[in-house]
Amino acid sequence: MTHAVSPAREAASPTLYGGAGTRRITVRDLALAKERGEKWPMLTAYDAMTASVFDEAGIPVMLVGDSMGNCHLGYETTVPVTMDEMTLLSAAVVRGTSRALIVGDLPFGSYQEGAVQALRSATRLVKEAGVGAVKLEGGERSLAQTELIVQSGIPVMSHLGLTPQSVNAMGYRVQGRSDEAAHQLLRDAKAAQDAGAFAVVLELVPAELAAEVTRSLHIPTVGIGAGSECDAQVLVWTDMMGLTGGKMPKFVKQYANLRSTMTDAAKAFAEDVVGGTFPQPEHAFH
Ligand code: KIV
Repeated sequence: MTHAVSPAREAASPTLYGGAGTRRITVRDLALAKERGEKWPMLTAYDAMTASVFDEAGIPVMLVGDSMGNCHLGYETTVPVTMDEMTLLSAAVVRGTSRALIVGDLPFGSYQEGAVQALRSATRLVKEAGVGAVKLEGGERSLAQTELIVQSGIPVMSHLGLTPQSVNAMGYRVQGRSDEAAHQLLRDAKAAQDAGAFAVVLELVPAELAAEVTRSLHIPTVGIGAGSECDAQVLVWTDMMGLTGGKMPKFVKQYANLRSTMTDAAKAFAEDVVGGTFPQPEHAFH
């Protein structure tokens, strides 16, 4: 269903990509973008400098994802990521940005015990790191956590479909292919919305099902491997910039090849040093 947006509300809400950069994007801006039918991009970020580049590029929402486990900290999965690591890196991303809404992931083990533990973890990310919202995995199974965090004044993004923190139980494969799984995904999405979530990430979900979820919710869906009908799209920045090594999943579009650019630059530096051509007189102090 589309809603009419009054001119006054429109003026208060910047276009998410390419809009004015005078204040931080809020979850309310995302709600208004859904009403306008405006799509928006989200990227992960794990450090201040990279985040500042994306902020300057106009990326309106950044996720300090627990993908930092595999993409930044050298773990094999997201599972080992701790609250200390999440807090440290989220604070860096907040410091590196002035416009983007920063969403901090609640890592595995920081909310599964129940609503009170979840609120404690979310509060820490808001108070110590300065994030504007948190993300957690699960719809119906994380209902109590989502409700309490939202009621306490912290916006929650929900994560459905493939939920990497459950990799030991579900592996990495497309979710929602059977009728029962599709119905469960729809129930989870509605449960997240009813609990007060401001957006829902859909990871590795068939495009038709993601489109149905998107149509049936009034909050935005953020797709990753979930087709083109979602309200927003997210990619892991090291994947889409070609920094991550190895084979990329089918849903990743590579916009740069930083791995080969950096390898070439490192080799050129090494060869200059070994060959005695760096530094030159202009690089020295006399
Ligand atoms: O941690 C992460 O980067 C994520 C995205 C894949 C949505 O959860």
